[in-house]
Amino acid sequence: MSLAVGDKIIFKIQRFSSDTDKKEHYEDYEVEYRKDGMMILDGLNQIRWEQDGTLSYRRSCREGVCGSDGMNINGVNMVSCMTHISDLKSSVITIRPLPGFPIVKDLVCDMTDFFNKYYVVKPYLVEKTPPPGEERLQSIEDRNKLNGIYECILCACCSSSCPSYWADPDYLGPSALINAARFVLDSRDEGKDERLDILNDKHGVWRCHTITNCIPACPKELNPTKAIAELQQTIVSRKY
Ligand code: SF4
Ligand code: SF4
Ligand code: FES
Repeated sequence: MSLAVGDKIIFKIQRFSSDTDKKEHYEDYEVEYRKDGMMILDGLNQIRWEQDGTLSYRRSCREGVCGSDGMNINGVNMVSCMTHISDLKSSVITIRPLPGFPIVKDLVCDMTDFFNKYYVVKPYLVEKTPPPGEERLQSIEDRNKLNGIYECILCACCSSSCPSYWADPDYLGPSALINAARFVLDSRDEGKDERLDILNDKHGVWRCHTITNCIPACPKELNPTKAIAELQQTIVSRKY
């Protein structure tokens, strides 16, 4: 289905308030396709600003940087500001909050557990030696090892699509693990061993069953499965 400016699309949005509702329901909104390149976030803003100010969703940067607008769109996790309405080729677009997280209101989930797991992996460079007079230098080769992992925007689309994450409430999940890899593989980090000890756990890297749902879910085209496999290899090779 191709879209032309002026066409109408239905957004079927899951509504729920943890304050007042016992169960979720869907409401339909008519959205006008106003410009080529219009994103799902533009449609949500149109609804909130012109039809229903009670609709809740997170967003900030509107350009794929802040990671706050992860949601499930026509059955696939995506960030709304990077999802072209025209790419969905559908006159009815169903939007739900990210699966697997408690809903606070409408498309807003409680991300406390997700971020607690992120902090568990120590997502920062650990320093043990005194800093040099100037910056800690890194070769171009070592810097390039971080490509494909440092770009994570913590949108949670991967963890929310991971069956192991749904099944094991203590599993760190692909997002925390790709961020762990970002620091384990950083030549400047001096905290590898303590970080790998945390990851070497049945709720850490070994919970990944290589189902790879997390790869197509990533709006930044990262590969958490590969990063987790690299962490597993690093842990195994450390033992010998
Ligand atoms: S590959 Fe691992 S982390 Fe990714 S979805 Fe599968 S189990 Fe989850
Ligand atoms: S790895 Fe991709 S899907 Fe997962 S949190 Fe980072 S940006 Fe989002
Ligand atoms: S609004 Fe920031 S990533 Fe979409």
